[in-house]
Amino acid sequence: MLIGVPKERAAGERRVAVTPESVRKLIKRGHSLVVEAGAGVGSRATDEAFVDAGATIGTREEIWQAEIVVKIDPPTVEEAGLLREGGKTVSLLYPHLREDVIDALRARKATALALERIPRTSIAQSFDVLSSMANIAGYRAVIEGATELGSFLGLQMTAAGKKPPAKVLVIGAGVAGLAAIGAARALGADVRAFDTRPAVKDEVGSLGAKFLELEFEESGDGGGGYAKVMSKEFIDAEMALFLEQAPEIDIVITTALIPGRKAPLLWTKDHVEAMKPGSVVVDLAAAQGGNCECSEADEVVVHHGVKVLGYTDLVSRMAPDASKFFGNNVVNLLRFMGNGQEEGVIVFNGEDRTINPALSLLDGEDPPELEPLPKKEVPAKTEAATPVAPAEAQPPAPQTLRNGLLSLGAAVALLGLGLNAPTDLLQHMTVFVLACFVGWQVVWNVTAALHTPLMAVTNAISGIILVGGMLQAGAGTTQWAMILGIIAILFASINVVGGFLVTHRMLKMFRKG
Ligand code: NAI
Repeated sequence: MLIGVPKERAAGERRVAVTPESVRKLIKRGHSLVVEAGAGVGSRATDEAFVDAGATIGTREEIWQAEIVVKIDPPTVEEAGLLREGGKTVSLLYPHLREDVIDALRARKATALALERIPRTSIAQSFDVLSSMANIAGYRAVIEGATELGSFLGLQMTAAGKKPPAKVLVIGAGVAGLAAIGAARALGADVRAFDTRPAVKDEVGSLGAKFLELEFEESGDGGGGYAKVMSKEFIDAEMALFLEQAPEIDIVITTALIPGRKAPLLWTKDHVEAMKPGSVVVDLAAAQGGNCECSEADEVVVHHGVKVLGYTDLVSRMAPDASKFFGNNVVNLLRFMGNGQEEGVIVFNGEDRTINPALSLLDGEDPPELEPLPKKEVPAKTEAATPVAPAEAQPPAPQTLRNGLLSLGAAVALLGLGLNAPTDLLQHMTVFVLACFVGWQVVWNVTAALHTPLMAVTNAISGIILVGGMLQAGAGTTQWAMILGIIAILFASINVVGGFLVTHRMLKMFRKG
């Protein structure tokens, strides 16, 4: 099919819906592309690059006459008027906000797909533009916040002096919030986060941030991974918690949102005034009314010396990457819609459960209404859209087992010593019990992320146990001492061999190709 890619014209928009890389992929699927001259300029994609990839360059009018027009921002009424009769659009649309656009599209008997309405299910994960863009926005929020703060985020220990890490609070640990936590942690900040959904506590923890908790019996889980509207009492308790935090926080990043609602007001003027002058609030929800009372969309407001950033173009500030991811989302969506079809054919299937919720118009009419699924089959919110915890934060079971074996080996070796010198039995038994207890406590209380460095120490101790076990077994003083010496050798050997295997496995993970 002929796909048209217009230049985005919304104020501050620098992205393009399809990059040369995506053009290549679409051409491979049997489509042809016509891209408006200069469409990729803001994303560092030249017309020549599009032509090299196989697209043709066209005028605005030519683009809108293509069979499918793919763009990022919703079309305007004027653009809808340029569409060919029966043409198709794929873009963000927000139909409830732009009835005039929908009417203009309906008049063209158009089919219009609203990307923001694609359900956040695992099947649609690869074309979930809201998640891919929110991920970028969360990262960029940290960069903007750090720039305005004008200070190091991580701990500095230099000959010229010491500076503690900056304190960052992230409100709302959805896609954007988790990306912000990851970016702030990567820069070394001391990060804490709050969300009404207790389910995200582990994800926050795995990224190295502290999850703030409220002593309040109310879950924000609205089912399917989405948040629900909280009671006034809960919001009051949440705001009181934030007021305690405000004086020590350097950067607050607010991302709290319940789909389809105005953003909840969580960071009031009182919170801003409680912050140190020079601190920064980055309000990602500024376009939906803002989580911060002082924020204004697309403005930097300074209140009591605190800068409140209400940028709504965070994604566009990283236009090349954002266009790349958006383009990939488009390729994946069109591939999904072309599945089972002849090469080069894309179907806007009103009966498909992934496509139907996103269809605002089907050939100028309302799309068919589907029977709701039984509740348990309602697909859950995508998980892979959230940043993945670093590999070392996953509990590495083999190391834990090895470390447990180590304390057992050490204990057995000590028991051997006790039996070797029966007169000192009581003393040695005390050491044995202590070794078991301390070994257990040490190994099981070490956080999973530290198991790898701990492994190096346990290897050294295994060596000592091996030597001790061999001496016991070789001395042949009593039969029991010999047996226990052999058992100690066995456990320590398992530990050493296991060490080689685990190290080998870890090195393989970093090997290229
Ligand atoms: P999301 O739905 O994945 O996450 C929102 C989170 O807020 C959820 O985890 C929810 O549980 C939480 N939440 C709801 N009420 C809360 C409350 N009272 N207290 C604490 N947490 C609460 O949404 P996503 O995709 O992460 O987007 C976050 C925000 O970022 C949205 O407002 C979105 O429009 C905005 N955004 C802004 C951009 C910009 O350039 N400024 C670009 C992309 C997204």
